[in-house]
Amino acid sequence: MEFLPTGIEGLDKLLGGGIPKGHIVAVIGSYGTGKTTLGLHFIYEGLKNDETCIIISFDEDERSIVESAKSFGMDLGRYSHSLEITRLEAAEVKESMRKIKSDLPEVIKSLHASRILIDSISVFETLFSETERYRALATLRDILKTAGVTALITSEADKSNPTTSKYGLLEYICDGAICLKYIRESQLEEPKLGLEVVKMRRVKHSRKPKPYSITERGIEVFEREEIF
Ligand SMILES: Nc1ncnc2c1ncn2[C@@H]1O[C@H](COP(=O)(O)OP(=O)(O)O)[C@@H](O)[C@H]1O
Ligand SMILES: [Mg+2]
Repeated sequence: MEFLPTGIEGLDKLLGGGIPKGHIVAVIGSYGTGKTTLGLHFIYEGLKNDETCIIISFDEDERSIVESAKSFGMDLGRYSHSLEITRLEAAEVKESMRKIKSDLPEVIKSLHASRILIDSISVFETLFSETERYRALATLRDILKTAGVTALITSEADKSNPTTSKYGLLEYICDGAICLKYIRESQLEEPKLGLEVVKMRRVKHSRKPKPYSITERGIEVFEREEIF
């Protein structure tokens, strides 16, 4: 199996080399756990390897994404020729879906993009009714699979279950799921950050939550350490 390194060494070790090529992987966590940052690592690593990459953001505009990346020492501007950043407005359901259905396959194909980051799907999901939501996600999956691109899709976590996505559907359409969470020993202590590979089709992986940190260098996963 071919792997695409994520640019986060400890995570790649946990995954046996990186994200399996062609996989669609969910990154689930509550706000501030580092989902966008993890996605930026994945994209930046691709750019450094001369790959073409796409970011579709429902949260931030291009400038804000470039600024965030810069705060972690990633200079996306250097790779503007091989990076496409698209902001989709959440308010326009039909327009978003139309763009995804008609434009996305074309964009991936014409750019020969190998990596795509969708950040975050939760905003997109809120646009649909319960019955339409699964269909919308399945359509997105089919498009990504047909294009053969390797994808990270970030999602807010369910309020009461940090390893489940907000609507509990994303993990079913994905080949893998990585969960980022705050782990509290007690209410008085500062929470610790833990990363868990919840699911990864065709890969033997550990399920143990591993400590990670977010610093000015971005995310670092301590794959040989324990949280407690
Ligand atoms: N330059 C930085 N140095 C250290 N920590 C940072 C820096 N920038 C952001 N962070 C931390 O990362 C968190 C945001 O990560 P982000 O990837 O945006 O999370 P999410 O997308 O899950 O909401 C912030 O809440 C902050 O704690
Ligand atoms: Mg984010």
